[in-house]
Amino acid sequence: MRNTKILVFGRIGQVGWELRHKLACLGRVTALEYPEMDFSKPEMIRTAVRAETPAIIINAAAFTAVDKAEGDPDLAMAINGTAPGVIAEEARRLGSLLVHYSTDYVFDGAKSSPYVESDLPHPVNVYGKTKLAGDEAIQSVGGDYLILRTSWVYGARGSNFLLTMLRLAQERPQLQIVDDQIGAPTPSECIAEATANILAQLLAPVGGGLNGRSGIYNLTCTGETSWFGFAKTLLTQSSGTLGCTVPNLIPIKTSEFPRPAKRPANSRLSCQRLEETFGVTLPAWEHALSLVLDTLTEGSSRITSQA
Ligand SMILES: NC(=O)c1ccc[n+]([C@@H]2O[C@H](COP(=O)([O-])OP(=O)(O)OC[C@H]3O[C@@H](n4cnc5c(N)ncnc54)[C@H](OP(=O)(O)O)[C@@H]3O)[C@@H](O)[C@H]2O)c1
Repeated sequence: MRNTKILVFGRIGQVGWELRHKLACLGRVTALEYPEMDFSKPEMIRTAVRAETPAIIINAAAFTAVDKAEGDPDLAMAINGTAPGVIAEEARRLGSLLVHYSTDYVFDGAKSSPYVESDLPHPVNVYGKTKLAGDEAIQSVGGDYLILRTSWVYGARGSNFLLTMLRLAQERPQLQIVDDQIGAPTPSECIAEATANILAQLLAPVGGGLNGRSGIYNLTCTGETSWFGFAKTLLTQSSGTLGCTVPNLIPIKTSEFPRPAKRPANSRLSCQRLEETFGVTLPAWEHALSLVLDTLTEGSSRITSQA
């Protein structure tokens, strides 16, 4: 297991960053980042995979700027739609496992209950369409793969809703937050930890291997909230620990906050299949949030005590 070669794409992204830490005890991890690895150039992907010959490839790289994707659909498709298919071809050629991340945005959000893996995707924006193209490309190559569908990713670093809210709370006395989109905020650290847990099972000398379990698995924290509920909870929790002031929070409808890309109203994903197949369940989103805030508090108190 120690000699297992693992290749990670998207080294400094939210999930990619956490993966490097969580996978360290599973094997020898090589992690690549843009521009040394540019997904708009398929030959770069093929060359890197053939040079590394990894047993496991994890793709955490993506064009994740949902609104920007509306204005640059070709680049978004190259990165999110075409590149995963190229990686899947190279993984299959080597007999390697490909782990790839997908999104709640492959769905239109019209369903009234949480989405299961067999629900028909119907993306309502360019990002969702390109991510769906990536999922389909991997499936059509037909090698060993796990597509882990997650939602509302955030963490102690990177570009995300939590850090945006903490910044805006210091700048504005009042914040209007969308309250009619429902989902499960999921920390990048939880995603990486769950990925490492699944891989540890697959690498186990006894009872390991994928054994026909290739497929799509939803992977989010437990429970649900709106963006408004997430903001209210995170700002209230952080007011105690990070000393952040809680601005006046006003719930608004999606229609009152027009953006270039449409968003699904229902982003809830049922994670039952993941639990039944790999025995993996992520924590409740509120608990996961408190752990991320602990990390931020720890970081800020270290900076304060060094000053
Ligand atoms: N963020 C979310 O809310 C969310 C929700 C559901 C699913 N997901 C999925 O979860 C996965 C991880 O997301 P994340 O939030 O960790 O993403 P992220 O923080 O935006 O990281 C994406 C990574 O991809 C890299 N990248 C961008 N363009 C590239 C290119 N042309 N070639 C190679 N790499 C490139 C980025 O590099 P630069 O930093 O240099 O641009 C970055 O390291 C993705 O598959 C995403 O679609 C995310």
